[in-house]
Amino acid sequence: MDLKSVIRTIPDYPKPGIMFRDITTLLTDARGFRRAVDELVQPLAGQKIDKVAGIEARGFILGGAIAHQLSVGFVPIRKKGKLPYKTMSESYELEYGIDEVEIHVDAVEKGDRILLVDDLIATGGTAGAAIKLLERAGGEVMLCSFVVDLPDLGGADKLRALGKKVTALVE
Ligand code: PRP
Ligand code: ADE
Repeated sequence: MDLKSVIRTIPDYPKPGIMFRDITTLLTDARGFRRAVDELVQPLAGQKIDKVAGIEARGFILGGAIAHQLSVGFVPIRKKGKLPYKTMSESYELEYGIDEVEIHVDAVEKGDRILLVDDLIATGGTAGAAIKLLERAGGEVMLCSFVVDLPDLGGADKLRALGKKVTALVE
């Protein structure tokens, strides 16, 4: 099965000119969801991971399933103002705006080896801010896994230039 065939494109969402790659159709497809989870962890074969961190919102769904599969804990990386306890934050530019991500100050332990997960990488602003946060908290991001890479926007290459291992299932 071709994962691309279960990803839907919505033109002009959320703003004119954006081709929104909608992975909810992949999540609804049982084989697509399982295959995506299996393939997102494949580059880690044999490596020990302490935690999975997922970026709001669709990274929670994929990251939660992956954390369960690996039997490790899950760290939610949330948009500003959603977490109830003390937080650390990083702001970033998006393809269509500006935003800020946060984690709880005690979500990561020093030396934690972390798998970072999101549905999609575009400019890399979100994932870059997430990596900064997790590493400020004392973690080490071992792999950044995405279902979709939009290579024209350069995000995956930006993370690789920072020395990060990046995997994406479709372009
Ligand atoms: C999308 C996507 C990534 C981010 C990628 O989320 O799920 O998190 O954009 O873009 P970037 O590489 O240019 O930073 P979005 O910001 O639309 O938020 P949502 O998950 O709350 O809908
Ligand atoms: N986040 C940034 N750009 C996006 C796109 N084209 N589709 C889905 N999510 C995105």
